[in-house]
Amino acid sequence: MTSLDQPQHINSEDYSLLAPGPVSLHPEVRKTLALPMIHHRTPEFDKILARVLQGLKRIFQTQQNVYMHSSTGSGGMESLLVNVLSPGDKVIAIVSGKFGERWAQMAEVFGAKVIIHNVNWGEAAKASDIQTLLQQHPDTRAVLCQACETSTAVTNPIRELGALTASMPNTLFLVDAITALGAFPLPMDEWKIDGIVAGSQKALMLPTGLSFVAFSKKAEGFFDKATCPRFYFDIRREKKANAAGETFFSSSVALVRALDVVLSLVEKQGLEKLFAANHRRAEVTRIFAQKLGFGLYAKSPSDSVTALTVPANMDGQKIRLHLEEKHNITIMGGQDQAKGKIIRVGHMGYIQDFEMLRLFEALGKTLQHFDVNSISNEKIQSVVAEAKAWLESHS
Ligand SMILES: Cc1ncc(COP(=O)(O)O)c(C=O)c1O
Repeated sequence: MTSLDQPQHINSEDYSLLAPGPVSLHPEVRKTLALPMIHHRTPEFDKILARVLQGLKRIFQTQQNVYMHSSTGSGGMESLLVNVLSPGDKVIAIVSGKFGERWAQMAEVFGAKVIIHNVNWGEAAKASDIQTLLQQHPDTRAVLCQACETSTAVTNPIRELGALTASMPNTLFLVDAITALGAFPLPMDEWKIDGIVAGSQKALMLPTGLSFVAFSKKAEGFFDKATCPRFYFDIRREKKANAAGETFFSSSVALVRALDVVLSLVEKQGLEKLFAANHRRAEVTRIFAQKLGFGLYAKSPSDSVTALTVPANMDGQKIRLHLEEKHNITIMGGQDQAKGKIIRVGHMGYIQDFEMLRLFEALGKTLQHFDVNSISNEKIQSVVAEAKAWLESHS
């Protein structure tokens, strides 16, 4: 660094990014991001692209193509809609939090007739309710659902929901897996998912800026029938370009090159290991945050993010800010109706065990800061020691 300021936080020795995305980057990824730029129409990039498109299929657990957009996850959500829907199509949107709301709004913007199925925050959708709705509306073109609703840290029953639409030839099951894909099992083909979107800054451990989408054969059957306006997200163009070994638009070379590194790291370890690492961090958080005095908000908790209810006399927003300012740890607070009531800890990305222990200690100290009687130093130290032993025996 010469003329620009030294970044305040440079490594996990003194700073932890424990948000549900963006996430902390693996050192190899950071190195790759710093490489000199190359052009996306070169033999060198062609090889990377070919590898990445194959590797993504393994992460998505699909035989279908996976496409990349240079957009955030929301762009991928839009891509899923515009490639299969026409204005006037009936859509059932499962809304179990903020991101469900967003997808329902998006579908409305593109002219869909949206039936909103509200689920209480903190709870998961019930497949039996959606089955009833589908019986009432057999002309439904698509069911929309978050695999993990990040605002509540809940996982929805994707396998059961996929089974409902599988036998309906004109009804598609579209899944927002932005904080799910790569974090826990979500085999696209096996679970009969017709459209799925992932985001780079989550379990794929990259900076923000890429979204990934895949469509089942059934969904592909709607590409030409769909009349929603689309240009950048028209997947037919990308499909043709990918088949010729290239991308239609300029590629985000740095991100795709970093993705190549992530995919090879995952490949070396196996996808199961990636899921297991997220699960282990989610488990340790759920067990030991409760010992400190927090509660669990999600009835069906996700392995990608944990939502913790804060003690009744405290404000989650203040806890979050205190962790950031005094302990150099970034987590997230609650949104809308959960604002102030919960804090959210992400489990995806390159997170080391000492960061988890530092989090527990900081959470304990933060509770003490807001209420001296809430927890003793001895209790904090014993929770941290127990958590350390737990992590060692679960490595
Ligand atoms: C479940 C879910 N859907 C959609 C989004 C939106 O993604 P982006 O902010 O990358 O557009 C997020 C982001 O956190 C998310 O968690």
